[in-house]
Amino acid sequence: MALVTTKNMFDKAFLGKYAIGAFNINNMEIIQAVTRGAAAKNSAVILQVSRSALKYAGPKYLIAMVEAAVEETGIDLALHLDHGPDIETAKLCVENGFTSVMFDGSHFDYEENVAKTKEVVDYAHSKGVVVEAELGKLAGVEDEVSVSAANATYTDPDQALDFVSRTGVDSLAIAIGTSHGAYKFKGEAKLDFDRLEKITGKLEAAGFKNYPIVLHGASSVDAEAVAICNQYGGKIDGASGIPAEMLRKASALAVCKINMDTDIRLAMTAAIRKHFGEKPSSFDPRGYLGDARDFIQKLVEAKITDVLGSQDSMK
Ligand code: G3H
Ligand code: 13P
Ligand code: ZN
Repeated sequence: MALVTTKNMFDKAFLGKYAIGAFNINNMEIIQAVTRGAAAKNSAVILQVSRSALKYAGPKYLIAMVEAAVEETGIDLALHLDHGPDIETAKLCVENGFTSVMFDGSHFDYEENVAKTKEVVDYAHSKGVVVEAELGKLAGVEDEVSVSAANATYTDPDQALDFVSRTGVDSLAIAIGTSHGAYKFKGEAKLDFDRLEKITGKLEAAGFKNYPIVLHGASSVDAEAVAICNQYGGKIDGASGIPAEMLRKASALAVCKINMDTDIRLAMTAAIRKHFGEKPSSFDPRGYLGDARDFIQKLVEAKITDVLGSQDSMK
């Protein structure tokens, strides 16, 4: 229907015990695949743009394509800055029509994270834009910054309450064991659901009713996509992600936004590798990018029905 903030989406998702998918976008095919997939399932969706994606495609192209997708699909879309590094980037996005921005101050010390987050919140709220922030540190690689598993820290529940109270941030990304990228667990997958429940319990008791929690690093790293990549000349060894049942459990709790980028990358790469493996004489970009678009759309539809539970959230 329109480019909207996440406020209403999260209110409905919390009560309905489902989550909204936040998919990273970098080009036209990914935007079309994600929005057409969401429209096919009558689901709201969040399109998110990292700093590297902003640099790659440029904010003007991205917003113009997202506006075209709003018009084509008629579903509610939020356009979100993912892992915003500073107030300048948040301002650039707000000025270009984003409806939600993340400020990621998780690498700063606590007081600095509070102060910088508050500055972004005050600015964004004055323009009608909502803000996500992060507390705790996820392992993995994002925007060329790498955090080792040893340097990752889980979110402290008391600090989470203090952080939300002092910053006025609209949603909080927490660290409970997920990580960015395709190599999330060496052994068995494990998320700290007790911590998630403690965090939401503290927020609820302090009057933050139905407060939306965000899960980054939530790709499942689909074995089929990895196998196709490897079958057609790729070398992706030892990849593992968050099992779908854990994401379903998180969605039924306070997690209202689930971030996935790696799964899109793997789907796109698998489809393109397969295309060239089966059609070595092909050289029309519409052929291999079209295959990638179809494959990503299928992935998004499956995520909505099998993982997020957000189908028919547009009703
Ligand atoms: O969490 C980060 C996303 O996967 C974005 O990655 O900075 O390479 O676009 P990127
Ligand atoms: P994945 O690497 O698990 O897809 O996480 C993406 C993400 O959190 C984007 O902010
Ligand atoms: Zn992330």
